[in-house]
Amino acid sequence: MARPRGSVDLPITLDREAGAPLREQIAEQVRAAVRERRLRPGVALPATRRLATDLGVSRGVVVEAYADLLSQGFLVTNGRSAPRVARLPGASGKASDGQHGRRAGYRFDLAPEVPDVGMFPRREWLRSLHFALETAPDQALDYGDPRGTTQLREALADYLGRTRGVIAEPSQIIVCQGSIQAIDLACRTLAADGVDRLALEDPCAHGIRHACRYAGLQAVDTPVDEHGLSLEQLLAGSAQATIVSPVHQFPTGAALSSARRRELVKWVTAQGTALVEDDYDAEYSFAGQAPPALQGAAPDRVIYIGSASKALAPAIRLGWAVFPKRLTGAAGELKEALDGGSPALEQIALAQMIAQSTYEHHIRRARAEYGRRRFALLEALARRLPWARVSGADAGLHFAMQLGRAVDSAMIESHAARRHIRVRALESFLAARSPQTSTLLLGYGRLPASSAGAAVEALADVLSAA
Ligand SMILES: Cc1ncc(COP(=O)(O)O)c(C=O)c1O
Repeated sequence: MARPRGSVDLPITLDREAGAPLREQIAEQVRAAVRERRLRPGVALPATRRLATDLGVSRGVVVEAYADLLSQGFLVTNGRSAPRVARLPGASGKASDGQHGRRAGYRFDLAPEVPDVGMFPRREWLRSLHFALETAPDQALDYGDPRGTTQLREALADYLGRTRGVIAEPSQIIVCQGSIQAIDLACRTLAADGVDRLALEDPCAHGIRHACRYAGLQAVDTPVDEHGLSLEQLLAGSAQATIVSPVHQFPTGAALSSARRRELVKWVTAQGTALVEDDYDAEYSFAGQAPPALQGAAPDRVIYIGSASKALAPAIRLGWAVFPKRLTGAAGELKEALDGGSPALEQIALAQMIAQSTYEHHIRRARAEYGRRRFALLEALARRLPWARVSGADAGLHFAMQLGRAVDSAMIESHAARRHIRVRALESFLAARSPQTSTLLLGYGRLPASSAGAAVEALADVLSAA
C-alpha cells in the first residue's frame, strides 16, 4: 500500500482488555508522542487504511482518532494528504541554537581557530568524490580496515614526508574524525600504555583538555611563554608525556624555539615515553617554511597529529595520527572499538586530491589569501590601535593582541559579541583564570582584507566603551 512520503510507523500498542475505547487509546498515544517530541512537527502520519491494518482495527476507528487530534490542534492537514504533526506553541522545532549553532550572524568574525569555509574547493571535492564512486570496487563499501583506506594512508605517508618531514609507513597512520579524535586516540593509547600524567600547554585548546580528562589522564598544566612550552617547568614537573603544538601554539601563537625543540626531543627520548605533536595549522606559515615536524627527529617517540579542517573545511571531519610502531597495534584496536573506522568514500576522495596535487594547490591558494587577510588586519591594527602589542602572527589563522592595560579580556569578548563582533579572550583557554594578563585572540580566517579597517574600527569602539 502506498505510504505518504516521509510518513512514520507509529509505535502504538492497543490494550483490548482496558476499558478505554480504541479510538481514544490511539489519540492519547499520538498526543503523548507529540508532547514528548518523539513525533516532531511536520512528520506525516500513516494513511488511515495502513494504520488500521497494522493495528488490526477498522479504518473508521483510525479516522475518528485522527479527527480528534486534528480538532485538538495536534495534527494539521491540507485536506487531501495524510495529516502531519502540528507545531505546538512555544516549540521552535529547530535544532538547539547553543554552542554548535553559534557560528552564524557576526558582522565581523575574528574567531581564532576557524578557516573560511566559503573557500572550500567544492568543484575539486566533487570531482574527487565522483572519482571515488566511479572507481571504488564494491568491496570498498564493506566494513574496511578501521585504521583507514590504503589509498589515503599511502597518500598521507607520502604527503607528510614531503611537506612536514614526517617519517612513517602507511601502517603507522590512523585516519580519524578530525584531529580531535586523533588526540583522543593518542591520549587513550598513552593511558593504556601506562601513562598517568600528561603535560598540557597552558593555555591550550579545550578539546585537548577534554581528551586528556576522558582518557583518565591527570593534566599537568605547564606554562607557555613567547618561545612556546616552558621546558624548565616541564622538566621540573611530574609529567610522563606531553602534548604540544610547536609550530603555532594554540592559542598564544608562539613558535617553539629551536633550543626548546632540541630539549623536548631529548626529554622524550630519555623519558622513554611519548610526545603528542598537534600540527593543527602548519599549512599556513608566513615567515618562511614552517620548521619540520618534531616527529621526524624522534619517530619512535612522537605521535603526530594533523587534519584537513584548516586546509579544506572542518565539516570534512578527516584527520590523522601517525603512531610510533610500538603503539600502532593498540591504537588501531582502539579506533576499531570506538567507531569501526572513518567513512571510506571521503577518504578515497581526499587521497585522490592529495595524489593529484589538488590538495596542495588549494593550500597554496588559501595561504596566499590568508596572507593578504593577515597583512590587512595587522596593518589596520597598527594604524588604529598603535599601542596594541601583537604576537604569534608568524603562522596559522590567528594571532594574539595584548591589551596593554587593566582591561578584562572576557568582558571585551562579551561586549564585542553584543555588537556582533566575534573575538576570543586568550584567558578563557587557561586552566585557571589569571587576572594579570589581558589578551585578545584575533583570527583573520574569516575576515576579508577589505573589511579589516572596519573591523578594527568596530573593535576600537568596543575597547573605548569598556
Ligand atoms: C589546537 C587545535 N587542535 C585541534 C583542533 C581540532 O581540529 P579538528 O578536529 O577539526 O581537526 C583544533 C580546532 O580548532 C585546534 O584549535
